[in-house]
Amino acid sequence: MRNQKILLTGATGYIASHTWLALLESGFDVVGVDNFANSSPEVLNRLQRLSGQAPVFEKADVGDAAALDAVFAAHKPAAVVHFAAFKAVGESTTMPLAYYRNNIGGLINTCETMRRHGCSRMVFSSSATVYGAPAPTDLPLREDAALSAVNPYGATKLMGETILRDLGAAEPDWQTACLRYFNPVGAHESGLIGEDPRGIPNNLMPYVAQVAVGRRAELQVFGDDYDTPDGTGVRDYIHVMDLAEGHVAALRFLLNGRESITANLGTGRGYSVLDLVRAYSAASGRPIPYRIAPRRTGDAAACWADASLANEKLGWSARHDLVRMCEDSWRWQSMNPQGFEKS
Ligand code: WQD
Repeated sequence: MRNQKILLTGATGYIASHTWLALLESGFDVVGVDNFANSSPEVLNRLQRLSGQAPVFEKADVGDAAALDAVFAAHKPAAVVHFAAFKAVGESTTMPLAYYRNNIGGLINTCETMRRHGCSRMVFSSSATVYGAPAPTDLPLREDAALSAVNPYGATKLMGETILRDLGAAEPDWQTACLRYFNPVGAHESGLIGEDPRGIPNNLMPYVAQVAVGRRAELQVFGDDYDTPDGTGVRDYIHVMDLAEGHVAALRFLLNGRESITANLGTGRGYSVLDLVRAYSAASGRPIPYRIAPRRTGDAAACWADASLANEKLGWSARHDLVRMCEDSWRWQSMNPQGFEKS
């Protein structure tokens, strides 16, 4: 039987590129679509080196109906994993229209194109940001916890889940899996692909990685007066390869059944900023200079997942610990000090 073909939007991005590899290793065929708005074409060369096959790729914007239609006509995917979206919380507050146009418009266009081509299974890249700023009594977060959008980026993820829920209610042949990522970090063990944010990293681990490799002088720790064991923010960091396997499990769930699902992808464990700094310094053998800075607006003290639903329904759980997350991140960063573009 021909391998089932999966279409990835946002395919050369951080999480998508790792998922691409995991899908190939699981026996799926993959076609990737990206417009390189926030990723590098170099990722395709790395995927070829890692997979031993030329990636099947189409350059297209998910907002371009004609281009996407041509891709679906050519490749006839059995399902879609929709990663394509802008994802910087701070940036989203300065350019909300661009976020709504790209993240919501792109999702709607992708769904309409899928429907025209008889494809009705989607894994949607959602985020723990849909939980807003949880109170300590809400932890660990379950999928039935209160939802709230506290920034335009989070609003696009919450609206995306709502759109898919309503689509499934209106057209029962639709099956969707909304995956709420907690804090994705790390890199493929080869060090050939990894997280390569443009400009100043918003997120903790890529910033720490750039301090370790000497691109940045010191880390600012955004507050050490939270109600947490060491006063710094606590998060549920999850290895990107565990996240990738979660997408493979969700696709199998959709392709082998008739149900939809919304599930947390986290480890169920929280680590503080200083836990991560210590672990990264140990993994890299480099000092990570830091200073305590004021809290960042909108940050929650702590956030970690109850990931039992994904375990029960998808047969998935995270396997990599913080040491492995730091070791794999460091291998990527030290092999690619300037990321993909200038490697
Ligand atoms: C983690 C901790 C910071 C940077 C965000 C998005 C979320 C998702 C993951 C897309 C916090 C502290 C950080 C720094 C620091 N992205 N920190 N200095 O905010 O939990 O989640 O990324 O889906 O939507 O909101 O992750 O890595 O930015 O912060 O002290 O330079 O590190 O205060 O406690 P966050 P983060």
